[in-house]
Amino acid sequence: MNRVEQPLALDGGPPVRTTPMTSGKRWGFEELREVLDVFESGKLFRFGGEKVPAFEQAFAETFGVRHAVASTSGTAAIHIAIGMVNPDPGDEIIVAPITDGGSVVPILYQGALPVFADSDPETFNVDPAEIERRITSRTRAILVVHLLGNPCDMEAVMEIGGRFNLPIIEDCSQAHGAEYRGRLCGTIGDIGCFSLQASKHITTGEGGMTITNRDDYGERGALFMDKGWTRQPGWGPRTYAFLAPNYRMPEIVGAVGCAQIRKLASIVDRRNHNGDLLNSLITDVPGVHPQTVLAGCKHTYWSWALTVNPEAPFDADTFASALSAEGIGAGAHYIGEPIFLCMDAVCKKITLGESQFPFSYPGAAPVEYNEDTCPRTRDLLQRWVSLGISEFQTEPDIEDMAIALRKVSLGLHKRAQRS
Ligand SMILES: Cc1ncc(COP(=O)(O)O)c(C=O)c1O
Repeated sequence: MNRVEQPLALDGGPPVRTTPMTSGKRWGFEELREVLDVFESGKLFRFGGEKVPAFEQAFAETFGVRHAVASTSGTAAIHIAIGMVNPDPGDEIIVAPITDGGSVVPILYQGALPVFADSDPETFNVDPAEIERRITSRTRAILVVHLLGNPCDMEAVMEIGGRFNLPIIEDCSQAHGAEYRGRLCGTIGDIGCFSLQASKHITTGEGGMTITNRDDYGERGALFMDKGWTRQPGWGPRTYAFLAPNYRMPEIVGAVGCAQIRKLASIVDRRNHNGDLLNSLITDVPGVHPQTVLAGCKHTYWSWALTVNPEAPFDADTFASALSAEGIGAGAHYIGEPIFLCMDAVCKKITLGESQFPFSYPGAAPVEYNEDTCPRTRDLLQRWVSLGISEFQTEPDIEDMAIALRKVSLGLHKRAQRS
């Protein structure tokens, strides 16, 4: 009996996989050498130090942009982007509903309201038509997320941005090195934001980067990262140009980034190869549907995901449990609910003290976030199953994942026929 036809591990059959996936570390001596330089230089601070400026320069060169501002997290990178756009209180920023809280927190901190546009159930990304439906006279920017490393429909997004004269912010926190029709994600819109947290394609443990080709945004972002401090030479009086936090990246962190950015291309290529290979091996598996990649785009697979078809005789929880029993780790529903239902700061408006600011700002339009706000996104998350993918996995690893996916689908179909 071939491996696909054996009884499901869930029912006591032999699991597809009994050994862990091939794994590895994305950091080592290259990073250590850069960090040693910092200790030898005696400079731990980015102003006067060399590593953070060098990391910013290398990041800008890699992405072919004029400005890169390093910061302390992906959330900080997005906050810097919102700070570049500089909304007025009560302005609205349209944002994707499947994302990390870090895409939404900076909008609220800048006094703007997040407005969520529903998802495309094929790509799992925000649907451009839904973005357009939510544009009002208060809309100030559009923030798209290239979810899991899958490029959004940027042609449509840019067309809408151009027509309504709205800046586009790309959240590339899961999409380092992803490409939309030959162009790197993060360089198509007005601003690109990256998380460098430990799980990301390249990492500094914690960290962020905001990139732009616009000089006005670049200059404002560099100030926003540093409390708005204009930093005149010498020890004279100070000026802080506007309200802003301190998101300065330390030199030790920048040193790690200098080594990591050199590894980006090879990490991304291997992840893309592995994810695309898995897609190609399961095209005819019934009852499930992998995340659709738009033609001409390069998905960089921070994670790999599928949806269980609505008519399948099993649900996402059963499918994920059956895969895990086969020795292929899987999880159902990703973030569980659209991000606004996960965050009390949004759905219950618990923000600054009792104020409910910015929702309570007199100039803000009344807005509610509930189960009907993005119905397609809720349905998509209900049917969602994620699998881990990495640059270290070998082709036999990926083949095992494909065998397990096929075995579980066929096994669960057979189970349903029997009952
Ligand atoms: C899409 C997205 N946006 C923003 C963030 C926030 O990044 P950080 O955790 O580095 O603040 C993350 C982090 O996971 C993310 O995945």
